[in-house]
Amino acid sequence: MEEALQPLVERLKKGNVKISLMTGAGISTGAGIPDFRSPKTGLYHNLARLNLPHPEAVFEINYFRENPHAFYTLADELYPGRFLPTKFHFLIRLLQDKKLLRRAYTQNIDALERLSGVLDDYIVEAHGSFARNHCIDCHKPMSIADLRKDMKDKSLKGIPTCRHCKGYVKPDIVFFGESLPRRFFDLWEEEIEEYDVAIVAGTSLTVFPFAMLPSEVSKDCLRVLINKDKCGTFETDPRDSDVVIQDECDKVAELLVDLLGWRDEFDQLVEEATKKHKENRLGLGLDETQALSEKLAKEIEQDIQANTEPRDEENDISDIVDEINELVISSESKPSKDSESNHDSEPEITEE
Ligand code: OAD
Ligand code: ZN
Repeated sequence: MEEALQPLVERLKKGNVKISLMTGAGISTGAGIPDFRSPKTGLYHNLARLNLPHPEAVFEINYFRENPHAFYTLADELYPGRFLPTKFHFLIRLLQDKKLLRRAYTQNIDALERLSGVLDDYIVEAHGSFARNHCIDCHKPMSIADLRKDMKDKSLKGIPTCRHCKGYVKPDIVFFGESLPRRFFDLWEEEIEEYDVAIVAGTSLTVFPFAMLPSEVSKDCLRVLINKDKCGTFETDPRDSDVVIQDECDKVAELLVDLLGWRDEFDQLVEEATKKHKENRLGLGLDETQALSEKLAKEIEQDIQANTEPRDEENDISDIVDEINELVISSESKPSKDSESNHDSEPEITEE
């Protein structure tokens, strides 16, 4: 594996690279969250108890309209707050701190990138997240606090229900039949040609349009696949320069850290972050997760500013924090930017 990683190590050692991460559920299995399609352990193989017509129905918007129980059973189990970031997530964080990270596209809804201290600016949650919720009928937002209250309310059978029109409310996770957030398409269009290195990890590359990202990077971009199985464009349209590592994400992350000479920094980062999370962990719900990640983000931002020139990123973290607070804390009626973009004419999410 060490030899196979050399082209990547050399590029990173040269510095001045723009890395794009393109990740999926396999980077979080080390945290105890199942992926979707692995035989036996994957979520889709373990959903028989929910009596679905087919496993993917749990994330289908038309099925949700008729039967939201299946999704909410799963949402209760997967709700962010009880899982800690993996070594692979901390590697992403270290790439950020080393100014090598340009963008972290993720299909995951577990918010573990944020919890590892990756700033919102870098993260593209392509399949949405639990951070915001909207009514599927009138599209008005619901706060996380109200959603969590409804999920525990027996009179509602645990289904969050719109205060305005009594429609079902759903977190802004992108379901099959819905469009991805506009930010995903905007950044893809603006930046895809810029990336020098694309690290694709823990994804089966079966869900579109996300699965197209690695095939759209420029010919000069070094493509790296870190996944148990070879998949997608790495199989159907391989490039001579591709680096393919069929192994555990965390194991590869550890080896990369050693090969790059980053061991001490990495261990310190993991130790500090894990300690912080454990201290804050008791009963950690999404509100607290959000607050904690904002606190961490501010600290990191301050560290970065203290050590270097300011980055030329478009958004100041405090604007994002204000925006999230506005949406999370109050339950005002204006739809968010994301909810509008979920209903525009972008292509819908599909499975291969
Ligand atoms: P999948 O479950 O389809 O693929 C996960 C991939 O990661 C598989 O190829 C596994 O072999 C691999 N894997 C698992 N654990 C690993 C580990 N520790 N190290 C290395 N590889 C590992 O998950 P995704 O590709 O993320 O959509 O699925 C894409 C989308 O399908 C999800 O975002 C979700 C689902 O329907 C929505 O929820 C909208
Ligand atoms: Zn409503």
